[in-house]
Amino acid sequence: MPKAQSPIMPATETDAILGYLNGRNIVLIGLMGAGKTSVGRRLAARLNMPFTDADTEIEIAAGKTVPEIFTDHGEEHFRQGECRVIERLLNSGQQVLATGGGAYMNAVTRENIAKHGVCVWLRAELPLLMKRVSRRNNRPLLLDGNPEETMKQLMDERHPVYARADIVVDSRDEPHDVIVADIIAALNDLAGNQ
Ligand code: S3P
Repeated sequence: MPKAQSPIMPATETDAILGYLNGRNIVLIGLMGAGKTSVGRRLAARLNMPFTDADTEIEIAAGKTVPEIFTDHGEEHFRQGECRVIERLLNSGQQVLATGGGAYMNAVTRENIAKHGVCVWLRAELPLLMKRVSRRNNRPLLLDGNPEETMKQLMDERHPVYARADIVVDSRDEPHDVIVADIIAALNDLAGNQ
């Protein structure tokens, strides 16, 4: 006979995590190239949650690509749209949300994420980030000057702020599913310790 499920001891890891989240979102933060979108998509599938990429939603809302928004209106305009779109997404049903690398630097966005989500920082070393971002030419912040110097500067500025996340997971040069497993384990720890 199957064992009756106890409300105190959830049947599966996923149930424990979903119970802990209690409707809140999982929000991925980290630098360009950390793997937020690829890892986020797989994490969402594992937890049977919808996945959203904030940059894609910003592009849909603006009817322009991120580089076009930067060129036509400037970074400040992009940041305002980013803050608005993330607030809307955080309030539109439980999901895994991947944010652009600069999003968490905005104090209002940080507050919104804290209110409506559990925040996961995908931390990565410079060589991995550079290897990943060099594959594509779609990051306006890396188009001028020396991309590696820019990335180093962004690491200095942003890592202390990213460190406020609820969970920190090291994004390594491993299959994305390995990183997903680390996030699941960390969420499970939080769920067990609440
Ligand atoms: C940015 C990161 C990008 C995108 C924009 C600005 C940043 O997203 O939002 O180019 O400030 O780090 P990804 O982190 O997904 O590349």
